[in-house]
Amino acid sequence: DRLIKDAFKDSFLIGMAGDLPTRYSDAELKLAAEHFGSITPENCMKPERIHPAENRWQFEQSDALVNWARKNGMTVHGHTLVWHAQTPNWFFEGDDSETIKQRMKNHIETLVGHYKGQVQSWDVVNEAISDGGDAKTAETEHLRDSNWLRALGPDFLTLAFKYARQADPDAVLYYNDYNIESGPKHASSLVLLKRLLDQGAPIDAVGIQGHWRSGRVPFDDIEKAITDYASLGLKVSITELDVTIRGESGGQFGRRRFRSSAPPSLEDLNAQAEDYAKLFAIFEKHQNVIERVSFWGLNDRRTWRRGQHPLLFDANNHPKPAYAAIVRESGPS
Ligand code: G3I
Repeated sequence: DRLIKDAFKDSFLIGMAGDLPTRYSDAELKLAAEHFGSITPENCMKPERIHPAENRWQFEQSDALVNWARKNGMTVHGHTLVWHAQTPNWFFEGDDSETIKQRMKNHIETLVGHYKGQVQSWDVVNEAISDGGDAKTAETEHLRDSNWLRALGPDFLTLAFKYARQADPDAVLYYNDYNIESGPKHASSLVLLKRLLDQGAPIDAVGIQGHWRSGRVPFDDIEKAITDYASLGLKVSITELDVTIRGESGGQFGRRRFRSSAPPSLEDLNAQAEDYAKLFAIFEKHQNVIERVSFWGLNDRRTWRRGQHPLLFDANNHPKPAYAAIVRESGPS
């Protein structure tokens, strides 16, 4: 049987997220190294974890991850430098924007510099577009209210990309976000990316996170978004792919509650497999634009959406129907 990473080796990398190898079982580490060619640190490179105070860096867990990836021949995608969440308040203390700008510069220089040549790409800015945009005003950027925006204004994105490029000229630099494939948020993403490119921000690629729900995957929007970003001259990766089987535990779909103990039915698993296969058919078609497709987790236990069975392996590390369906999509071996 073919491995997913081999099935797509001529098209794009197949990756996963996790804070490996710390607190993963031997069976999980074996599974990860066998099936995936790239790893994204799920939490350990976030500002609050790696840089909890101005003069304190905690590189241990990330160093372990990067070393483990190298030993197993995997690339590393760094996540994430500038974000509205998981970023300690010390960055923003005092009102002096020059000081805050220097803190951003120091954070990026030190972190990207530390992993120069070992982390091949970075999510430089994560989730800067607000969810509240409406169709009527979709022609604006709709930047999310954040400490970065308040302190530095809309230029904070261009600054972040410039600092990252200076720190490692060879790293591939991403703008990463969710729901940017559809509706007003997609329109806003195009306005924002055009402005960044016009300002000379050294941005190479867009990360479409890809947190979707089985039965409601916006296939047409996804394909159009890939070609829209490509027409701006940008590469695209699917950076945080998962397709849940049951309704969300909160938010808009909160009434359809899931029970985390209930196993998925074969019907649900097959519908999920079909959704994944259709997605990979789209990715294959646009393989000249797509650099990497990374799942957000390793198995249905190692996922932020536990109980919703979103990944390729079940909680016991057995491949689900989605695995074979995706590999079939890559064509005959
Ligand atoms: O590790 C600590 C543990 O020691 C502590 O006892 C426990 C108590 O709350 O927290 C644990 O940390 C949690 C961490 O996940 C590890 O499980 C944090 O509270 C929790 O906030 C954190 O959630 C992460 C979330 O981002 C927020 O940073 C998820 O694991 C992670 O999957 C999720 O990933 C995000 C991407 O970065 C950006 N895109 C969306 C994606 C999904 O939300």
